[in-house]
Amino acid sequence: MTKTWSVESWKDRHANQQPTYADMSALREVLAVLRLMPPLVTSWEIDHLKSLIGEAQAGTAWLLQGGDCAESFEDCQAEPIASKLKVLLQMSLVLVYSSRQRIIRVGRIAGQYAKPRSSDVEEQDGVTLPTYRGDLINRRGFSESHRRADPQLLLRGYERSALTLNFIRALSQGGFADLHHPENWKLLFAAGSDESTRYRQLVNSLSEAVRFIEAISNTPLEELRRVDFFTSHEALHLHYEQALTRESVRGCGWYNLGTHMPWLGDRTRALDGAHIEYLRGIRNPIGVKVGPSMSADEVCELARVLNPSNEPGRLTLIHRLGAAHIAAKLPPLLEAIQSAGKQVLWICDPMHGNTRSTSSGHKTRRFDDVLGELRQSIQIHKDVGSHLGGVHLELTGENVTECVGGAAGLTEDDLHTAYQTHCDPRLNYEQAMEIAFSIADEIRKK
Ligand code: PEP
Ligand code: CO
Repeated sequence: MTKTWSVESWKDRHANQQPTYADMSALREVLAVLRLMPPLVTSWEIDHLKSLIGEAQAGTAWLLQGGDCAESFEDCQAEPIASKLKVLLQMSLVLVYSSRQRIIRVGRIAGQYAKPRSSDVEEQDGVTLPTYRGDLINRRGFSESHRRADPQLLLRGYERSALTLNFIRALSQGGFADLHHPENWKLLFAAGSDESTRYRQLVNSLSEAVRFIEAISNTPLEELRRVDFFTSHEALHLHYEQALTRESVRGCGWYNLGTHMPWLGDRTRALDGAHIEYLRGIRNPIGVKVGPSMSADEVCELARVLNPSNEPGRLTLIHRLGAAHIAAKLPPLLEAIQSAGKQVLWICDPMHGNTRSTSSGHKTRRFDDVLGELRQSIQIHKDVGSHLGGVHLELTGENVTECVGGAAGLTEDDLHTAYQTHCDPRLNYEQAMEIAFSIADEIRKK
């Protein structure tokens, strides 16, 4: 690892999962334009999120991170964005109410446009083309021109991120997110289900509590009119991330100002790789996915390289081990981090270790595996004296049919009815709320 970091020292390392651009000068021109564009977030917001994650590490807050596997340009529309925000707000309400802890809301949103792929190429009917790598890079259709990596898409991605974030900021700063108006928080799903009854009761008692406090203090609770909402995406395309990385005007270092919390995927976390080199030098709170191939030594080395000063809130480790493997794989990792005295926030991604294919060729996940991994995870942390401080989910606020199971009993035969994901299967609205209630129960038990 080089001693001195610069915003482009990653270029001296091998970068996995990068597209190949046929015209490098076209790429350079686009990056020069991107470097001049205004940032999407500020270093003050980023520092604020870092201090909140520090609280989650200390056990006084909980991190809820969720959204699409891959955002798409065509879904940059009012309805899908508002419903994603709504399901995350509703889940956080359930969690805050039962855990009596502050909930930190972080969307996989406003920039989640680049995807790691297991193969560089895709073959159909004897034709081999580059694989689709997300809307930031190329297009989904199967032709040479669709699959060509197009630098202009970096600008389109930046613009869609800005449009999405603008709408999120407007919604979360008042009106829509105002707890004084629980009608905004109404559930969309079937009245009469257990979750909808529990949720209605929760909103009613919360509204009563708000009215009570305001009556006795004779002051409206301004804090309840708005919510904090942060963004995150996988920091995969390093040219793009670099172009949005700027030196702070306060002279306190370099920040990725394209998102609050960039994270590293399980496929790009090689210790000697370009992604780690890039991330180690920025000041944002960062996440790293921890998959089944991670060893105890590696996880400690990762924490040392990415957080040499052991700064609170800096590093979130997102384990995604799978319901079948977590019991064997997680304890040694937790123990290693503990005995090395590393400050990290552990959160659980119960999605990516539980993906399977059906006979009809759909990628799916079983609700019971997702919930099972989460429950095991809470117990394992407790058993080894560690602490699970959050969850990382792929979800949507809409009524899709991508994951099987849950209270509505979705089966594999139902998957074709509303299978809309461009990448991994997401929990739908009801399944996401059901997970929130189950986590709430587990936290309360603890
Ligand atoms: C993802 O979060 O969409 C993803 C690809 O995860 P992982 O890197 O953990 O496989
Ligand atoms: Co995914």
